[in-house]
Amino acid sequence: MSNRRVGILGLGAYLPEKVLTNFDLEKMVDTTDEWITTRTGIRERRIVEKGTATSDLAARAAKEAIQSAKLTPADIDLIIVATISPDMLMPSTACIVQEKIGAKCGSFDISAACSGFPYGLAIGEGLVRSGAYRHILVIGAEVTSSFINWKDRSTCVLFGDGAGAAVVGEVHDGHDILATYLGADGSQAKLLQIPAGGSAIPPTTETINSGLHFVQMEGSEVFKSAVRTMVDAITEVTRRANIKLGEIDCFIPHQANLRILNAVAERMGIPFEKVYVNLDRYGNMSAASTIVALYEAVKEGKVKKDSNVVLVAFGSGLTWAACAIRW
Ligand code: COA
Repeated sequence: MSNRRVGILGLGAYLPEKVLTNFDLEKMVDTTDEWITTRTGIRERRIVEKGTATSDLAARAAKEAIQSAKLTPADIDLIIVATISPDMLMPSTACIVQEKIGAKCGSFDISAACSGFPYGLAIGEGLVRSGAYRHILVIGAEVTSSFINWKDRSTCVLFGDGAGAAVVGEVHDGHDILATYLGADGSQAKLLQIPAGGSAIPPTTETINSGLHFVQMEGSEVFKSAVRTMVDAITEVTRRANIKLGEIDCFIPHQANLRILNAVAERMGIPFEKVYVNLDRYGNMSAASTIVALYEAVKEGKVKKDSNVVLVAFGSGLTWAACAIRW
């Protein structure tokens, strides 16, 4: 491995303006603000206007990240978009984003669900470290609202739309990515999936009528796996980064459920004030979740120069991932 120091040069985020509160959901499905708040911690989420695609949110976040890195689109030599809600099956959302931001470079999507951003960061870090690329745009972007069954109260209350982006490159004064760790267990694929629309179950009127194009989830099983895999990911990434748990200043977890975050913190003895939370405002934005949380934690001064930060996520696959960063 080269001695090159690789890290985050700039951050960006974009959240749609439209807010959908738990009280709005009370009018749509058989649920209550009280149920959603106590079971998940979510109070509201952002939802795009009809006609807005994932690439639209991604491009807005990407432009801000490039600007904050003091670069121009011409400086970007690779674009990676992590998403489970691509604009379409092909071409990749990354190619559409490339056109929207005016870049000219290799562009591709990755599919690691809610672990997508840390997966993308690990790929970007490796490719910059190898010397093959200089400035890689890693984006986590989702319009999950297009893949949600708005009649299914067990899933529709959980998700939201949004995007975040980071420019990865060589660093000289902090922001170093110290270690990454990626995991997956395909034997648990059925716990959380969108079954139809791909080659296994191509779209037909029957698949549409059966709701097979929407997110399907076994919530309590996912909950248990989430706690187990996030504990594993934090433990492994801190070991690889050679830092003690007590030396971590801020945990930026995937924002799916407050009870999951509480359980992870409790199991690991992490003081909860070190855990960044914004799921009350945005719900679960899948691949956009950790990067938007990092963006806001930096803006709010919860992540500052020399902070040791751990990004940690889990999601469909099942996948899990963590990145340790010295800010
Ligand atoms: N409003 C009111 N009641 C609801 C509801 C809603 N929105 N959604 C489910 N319920 C009901 C269920 O129908 C069930 O009723 P029953 O007991 O009469 O059958 C009851 O609430 C309990 O459901 P259960 O699924 O056991 O609740 P839970 O405490 O496990 O919470 C989740 C459900 C989905 C919030 C929780 O399992 C969870 O967060 N899992 C992880 C999901 C996740 O993180 N997914 C993304 C991974 S990236």
